[in-house]
Amino acid sequence: MKKIQIKTVKGFNEILPPESFRWRLVEDKFRNLLEGYGFAELRLALLEPTELFARSIGGETDIVEKEMYTFLDRSDRSLTLRPEGTASVVRAYNQYSLGKISEINKLYYIGPMFRYERPQKGRYRQFNQLGAEVFGEASFYQDAETLVMLAQFFHALSLKGVDLHLNSLGCEACRPAFRDHLKSYLDERKEALCGDCQRRMAENPLRALDCKNPQCREAVTDAPLISDALCDGCRQHFEGLCGLLEVAGVDYQVNPKLVRGLDYYTRTTFEFLAGDLGAQNAVAAGGRYDRLVEELGGKATPAFGFAIGFERLMMLVDSEVTPLTSPFAALIPLGEEALRLLFPIHVELNCRAAVTTLSFQQKSLKSQLKKADKEGVMYALIVGPDELLSGEAICRNMRTKEQSKLSLNRLGEALRELYHEC
Ligand code: HAM
Repeated sequence: MKKIQIKTVKGFNEILPPESFRWRLVEDKFRNLLEGYGFAELRLALLEPTELFARSIGGETDIVEKEMYTFLDRSDRSLTLRPEGTASVVRAYNQYSLGKISEINKLYYIGPMFRYERPQKGRYRQFNQLGAEVFGEASFYQDAETLVMLAQFFHALSLKGVDLHLNSLGCEACRPAFRDHLKSYLDERKEALCGDCQRRMAENPLRALDCKNPQCREAVTDAPLISDALCDGCRQHFEGLCGLLEVAGVDYQVNPKLVRGLDYYTRTTFEFLAGDLGAQNAVAAGGRYDRLVEELGGKATPAFGFAIGFERLMMLVDSEVTPLTSPFAALIPLGEEALRLLFPIHVELNCRAAVTTLSFQQKSLKSQLKKADKEGVMYALIVGPDELLSGEAICRNMRTKEQSKLSLNRLGEALRELYHEC
């Protein structure tokens, strides 16, 4: 048979060891911080009815128009691999009537998302997000608490050069008039806009404000700004948020052209940008979406949330983090009888987090010591025919090269003591 090598689908990002250890350390930090702030984890479905995303993210967005993994299942239902988490969390919030269980619901999720984008550094077709959503709180204090929490997370990971960009997109009271105003401005420059912006002008002209196309950028240089058109409620909300960020010592920049590629936002939108990431520089993003729960069939409920791009975050985290479970001792058997003696000690110690390695192959002392050295263990414990006869194992300190003897009768106990000493 012809040999073939099957590989992952293009752009589907996988995390291999030891990188996966670093991911888990960061994930644990995220869980601890969020649970401290009263968030609980939601584990969501990966596949959803396609309609969920068309109705929430917006039918005229890049994600829905071009980037979704959509297919018919065996019953001809149109299903989509989730391109983001917010729509699914809102679907779950409504489906399980979470608003009835408690007035405020704080939920977080960690997992893969799927978008058919052009793969490049920091942009994948399968990528992971650490996300969180708060339901039932309309106050700008909630926006501030969540943004400060994110800033604390980045600080705890010692990230540098991450800047918070902030905007308000207004609400149904002030946005329609602004949209019309912006539309007339864009109408006069229609020829200069890219195909996407021209097409979206009728439904969502705001997207032209943060289109990356150089010609569109040029065309919107003097465009009207939503910051000049906010109603009193939205203005107070935004000023209140900025004031709280200042009190908490979180730096931010107001960017009145920050619109974002999802249609569900109202009032606050934000991005954390990192210069070190290159072209794909948003490490986290989110905002308020006070209308979405109702639009997806639930009771009107204000909401605020964010998602961190896990791959992009890990590009910024110091790579020096060492795995938690590095072995402290290599158990070195010389012969079948020694292996049989060491095996129960090995599994018992590993179960108590005192990780040891044990080779099941009959290898020479030299090659086992070489491997132990490579693994960076503190001790090598040697048991061969001589040690079995004398009743004492050789314990070699791999750093100092000093050797001592340990009684075979209480080997497990002695190794546990050594582990607690290191
Ligand atoms: P988003 O801006 O589409 O927002 O994605 C959030 C973050 O996910 C981005 O800032 C980026 O770090 C990462 N990301 C997005 N696409 C890719 C990709 N193709 N490859 C690698 N990383 C990527 C949302 O998803 C909203 N659900 C955020 C939100 C939560 N808003 C309210 N609640």
